[in-house]
Formats: sequence, C-alpha cells, structure tokens
Amino acid sequence: MTEQKNKLKIGMARAVFEPVLARLSQHFDVVSNQSDAVLSKAQIIEMLKDCDGAFTTGGDRIDAEVFAACPKLKIVANMAVGYNNFDIPAFNAAHVQATNTPDVLTETTADFGFALMMATARRITESERFLRAGKWNKWGFDMFAGSDIHGATLGILGMGRIGQGIARRGSHGFGMKVIYHNRSKLDAATEDSCRASYVTKEKLLKTADHLVLVLPYSPENHHTIGAAELAQMKPTATLVNIARGGIVDDAALAEALKNQVIAAAGIDVFEGEPSVHPDLLTVPNVVLTPHIASSSVPTRMAMANLAADNLIDFFAGREVRTPINTLPARASA
Ligand code: GLV
Repeated sequence: MTEQKNKLKIGMARAVFEPVLARLSQHFDVVSNQSDAVLSKAQIIEMLKDCDGAFTTGGDRIDAEVFAACPKLKIVANMAVGYNNFDIPAFNAAHVQATNTPDVLTETTADFGFALMMATARRITESERFLRAGKWNKWGFDMFAGSDIHGATLGILGMGRIGQGIARRGSHGFGMKVIYHNRSKLDAATEDSCRASYVTKEKLLKTADHLVLVLPYSPENHHTIGAAELAQMKPTATLVNIARGGIVDDAALAEALKNQVIAAAGIDVFEGEPSVHPDLLTVPNVVLTPHIASSSVPTRMAMANLAADNLIDFFAGREVRTPINTLPARASA
C-alpha cells in the first residue's frame, strides 16, 4: 500500500483503474491498494482507522465493528450496485453515508444475463470443452442439441432496472413471451415497455423455459431457489443467476443438474465466492463465470468514476449522486 500527502484521507479496499486513482489523489490523501490484495476485516479496519472516507467493492464487509474502530469515517462508496456487504442500520447509527453505483451498469449487466442464458440454453461452453479436448471427430444429428431462445417463455425473478433490461431484450429482440415475479407489480407503462406480465412465483417457476434471477440479496431471500423450487421447474428449463450468491442453494442446484431435474444452469455468482461448490465444478450442464456480469471496460470505468464522484461530491459539501441511505441532519450544538 502506498500513501500520499493531502488533507482528507480515503482508503481504497481494492485496486482501481489508474485514471480514477489519479482523480481521487487530486482531492485526497489516498491509501491505495494497487497490488489488489484482498484485505481481511482486520486489515480493512487497520487501513481505515484514520480515514475520512472509503472506496469499497462488493466483497468488503462494512459494519458496526468497522465504525467502532474507525470513528473518522463519514462515507463509504461501494463500487457495485448491490450492497449486501453493507450493514445499513449500522451506517445510520454511526451517521455514515453509504453510496453504490446503480444505472451505469444496467445495460451491460442485462447484456451479460442474456448472453449467459443463451450460452446455457445452447450449450456453448460444454461443446467448446468437447472440441478443445479433441473429441470432435464426426458431425452428429443431435450433437449438443439445446433449447431455443426465440419464441420461448422468459421468466424473470426480480424486475428492477436490470430485470427490465433483460425483459426488453427478450421480448423486443427475440420474440420471447416474458413473465416476471417481483415484490411489487410494475406499473402498466413499464410492463408495456418490457412487454412483460406479472405472475405468482409458483407460476413463474412452472412456466418459464428460461428463468433469470436478478433480485437483490437479503437474509429473507436466502435460498429463494432450493430443491423444492427447482423441482417445480420444467425438466427442459434453464436457470441463470446473475443476482447474488446465496439466492440459490448451490448444493441443491448441483444435485438438480446431476439428476436432470432442470436441463442446465448459468451461474455468475456463488455462495461463499470466490469458492465454488465442488459439485458444480463436476456437472457438465452448467456454465460458470466469476462474477463478471458488469465487467465491460466502459462500465467498470463508469462504476469506478461514479464511486469516486460520490466521495468528491460528499467532501465538497454537495449531494452525493447515488445515496443508499438518507442521513438525518445532525442537531447543531
Ligand atoms: C455486482 O455484482 C454489483 O452489485 O454491482
């Protein structure tokens, strides 16, 4: 880690693009981590104990223990739209601003969800492994025959901005029938723009040919998809998880894939990542990617710049651009 001299001090939990680090360094003393070491909780606390602000990513847990040890901390800017790594009641209790990076990643993440669904349905990585292994010695009439995307029923669980982007791609681009389930039904204009219909969770599970999960993680939706839910799906169906690890019971999913309870899955997020359940690594009918749904160069740059903007604006006395919590004004002395 390298430290530079300025006024307010910002701790970077992970590495970032050099131009973003340079921007931050114009405003702050920056404790950087360009070697990208994954810091333990104790190391994060050690780094932030005399910092005024922090730049984190989705893997860095920030909670009451951090605030107790880092009393100067006033803002933590997460370079992710999801913020289940933040204990928001603890932020509020410690009067610390939390920010995330919504919107700038919506279309890129929707592209990836769609790509993962297509790769899963059309068995792209499974067939590539076969070819690379030198096993392709003749054409076969049903070789890696998968399922169609066009005209199929696309089910979306979690119909926020990214879910809506996937719905639009499916209905407008591929003639899919789109159904969704969400905490609340969307207004009619949004449903029309996505050409999507609200259904119960049970109907979604039973009817979707391809089910994509895009809901935020919370303890209440831990294992939203487990053995019982997988058993309700069509045996020809595919499941895609670009939401968060823990929404799917990965052990139950591996078992369901092994027993052909569903046809295939595409998984970008895992329980306990970067560890992957060992059974998922041995079943052939799953496409596995290392949490990269928002990872295009322009989008990751936009996310990093937005997190930086939030820090810069906050300490310049301006409104942060993308707040997670609203802090009550402090009573004046
Ligand atoms: C990525 O998972 C994010 O929340 O931005």
